[in-house]
Amino acid sequence: MQENINIEQLKDKGFLTIKNFLDKKEVEKIVNRLKEVPLENIGHGDQRGYFPVTAKAKLAKFLKLDFKSLITSSMLIKMAEKLELKKIAENFFKSDVNLHMIDSYYSPVSKEPCIDWHSDMTFKPGINYNINIASLKFFFYLTDVQSKNGCLAYVPYSNVITKAVAELIVSKKIKYTPYWDLQKLRNLVLSKDNLNQILNVTGEEKFEKFIENTKFIENKDKDTEKFDLEMGRGGVVIFDEFGVHRGSMPSKTSRQVLRIFYRKK
Ligand SMILES: [Fe+2]
Repeated sequence: MQENINIEQLKDKGFLTIKNFLDKKEVEKIVNRLKEVPLENIGHGDQRGYFPVTAKAKLAKFLKLDFKSLITSSMLIKMAEKLELKKIAENFFKSDVNLHMIDSYYSPVSKEPCIDWHSDMTFKPGINYNINIASLKFFFYLTDVQSKNGCLAYVPYSNVITKAVAELIVSKKIKYTPYWDLQKLRNLVLSKDNLNQILNVTGEEKFEKFIENTKFIENKDKDTEKFDLEMGRGGVVIFDEFGVHRGSMPSKTSRQVLRIFYRKK
């Protein structure tokens, strides 16, 4: 499995996609194990969709006699081991890593607008910020997804820009202003107070690519399908959560995903 993974590309662009990363049998086994997720309409952030990965969380489930969740967790951890996800994360971080989180959630067909373009690793005022807690995320599609129907999109090289911004804020070289959403991030990096400092860290080529790739946010509909990552079920998007991404709403078919996150030790 490892030979298929282009770690340099993952580091550089911030993401990579692998079609049929899970074979049909594996997908069926997982879907069957996670069938309560669609049946009980378990959505994003619902505690019932989280499966314990630490000894403490496992003990808590045990004390609640939630053996089902323990069995699911053990099966998913075994699958992750077989797929060598930890090794991929270790190669990515060049460090030992911990399995940080496993969850699955279901999104019914919806006409709601998609989640705005954003980075997962930006400051929230008042919270002590640690750049080293960023995750490498394995985002498995358990249903087919397309543009405007549940697929993720990721702006290549945006991970380099947000990481530079975070480092410069932490070292107090630039002033913090909110930048969770892409428009604010662009404003921050293009401001004359910050531009040169950011360019010094990212280099001109990646910076210009980012500016060019994110121009769409100035358009009327503030969206593009250019970076959509369409895939069949069993496909995975592996991504650095620093990078700018968005999820499109499942407008035609419902969607179920499985997510597995690793962090540096
Ligand atoms: Fe996100």
